[in-house]
Amino acid sequence: MTPPTRSPAEQTPPAGPTGAPIPFVRPHVDVDEALLASLAAVLRSGQLSNDGPRVRALEAALSERLGHVTLCTGSGFTALQLAIRCVRRPGAVVVPAFTFVATANAVHAEGRQVRLCDVDAAHWTLCPTALDALLRAHSDVAAVMAVNVYGEPADLDALLRVCTDHDVDLLLDNAHGMGSLLHGRPWPAGVRAAAHSMHATKVLPAAEGGCVALRPDVDPEPLRQARNPGLGGDPAQATAGINAKLSDLHAAVALHGLRDLDAVLDGRRAALRRLRATVARLCDTDGDRPALQLPVARPGAIGNGQNFAVAACDGDAAGWQAALARHGVGSRRYFHPTLSAVGYLRPGQAPTPIADDLAARVLALPLWSRMPSETLAAVETGLAAAIAERRR
Ligand SMILES: Cc1ncc(COP(=O)(O)O)c(C=O)c1O
Repeated sequence: MTPPTRSPAEQTPPAGPTGAPIPFVRPHVDVDEALLASLAAVLRSGQLSNDGPRVRALEAALSERLGHVTLCTGSGFTALQLAIRCVRRPGAVVVPAFTFVATANAVHAEGRQVRLCDVDAAHWTLCPTALDALLRAHSDVAAVMAVNVYGEPADLDALLRVCTDHDVDLLLDNAHGMGSLLHGRPWPAGVRAAAHSMHATKVLPAAEGGCVALRPDVDPEPLRQARNPGLGGDPAQATAGINAKLSDLHAAVALHGLRDLDAVLDGRRAALRRLRATVARLCDTDGDRPALQLPVARPGAIGNGQNFAVAACDGDAAGWQAALARHGVGSRRYFHPTLSAVGYLRPGQAPTPIADDLAARVLALPLWSRMPSETLAAVETGLAAAIAERRR
């Protein structure tokens, strides 16, 4: 078996006006002899899943990296489910209205009511002031699920203060946030559990996978049982389990990716800085309303470059998407729609005008791991052309 020497991203020439639009995400796995040998070893080992050696090695490496006991799961969704099982008491879970629908669906799947809360207009993450107002109005809340948005941490210290004041647990949907830092650490020590995704499009892909990192006072054993799917321990104490296991094949892919994760993060951060600077420069015209809005960087935060998102200032995300595609730039209306538009979530929610407005305007634009420089340049050229077209 002769492995390709270059990754698929490197083999693909940058698309542009003459080809298909440049995709907004593109999974990257560095396919080399070591990875292929590792996958072959799993396939020959007789143990493809059920807490195999690669899952255990990945858990050890992630626990070390994140500074918390970390359990691997089959997806970010099931990592969220296990995080929700760490909540100390029954009750509703607050979720920002501007997030991927999986955040709310996991709360629902765990049999808890979802309470939607607004985000702040500058950073696009859960708003501590809106959260405080929501918790004052509703005494049925047991936990808050903050969300890392596109790799940018939420205002976790302020959110933790609000949660402590109201005696509710703070959880983190860090599906986007592997490698993001806030004041030098992944998240404040008070966060009870942080769920991550290792989906194909994330910075550390397993193809499908996730993990949940636990505060030291959370017992991992009931969660280990719950993911497999309730086996082990005292059956009289068992809760209804799920299948949240990661396979050893997926673990092998993620373990391989961990080797050069820091280089991948550096590259994504540099590419995002460059793309944001380009948008800021192209939109910096005297007196004109800017064409595209960028999220404001939070002091003390170092994002991981998960996504490059902009919001259309004229509110016409669909029109921008078509213009960008005409100039070779693919995009996704992500996160769209606002969760307040999702039928099963709608009844009885407080208004979330900022999230609703943002979800109507936002577009995620191309940003990948190991994105070739000429592809970045093609995105910049396409952006410039689309902005000029929309201004005409
Ligand atoms: C914010 C957020 N939470 C949760 C998930 C679910 O992760 P997964 O696709 O690994 O189940 C995603 C997936 O992209 C996400 O964007």
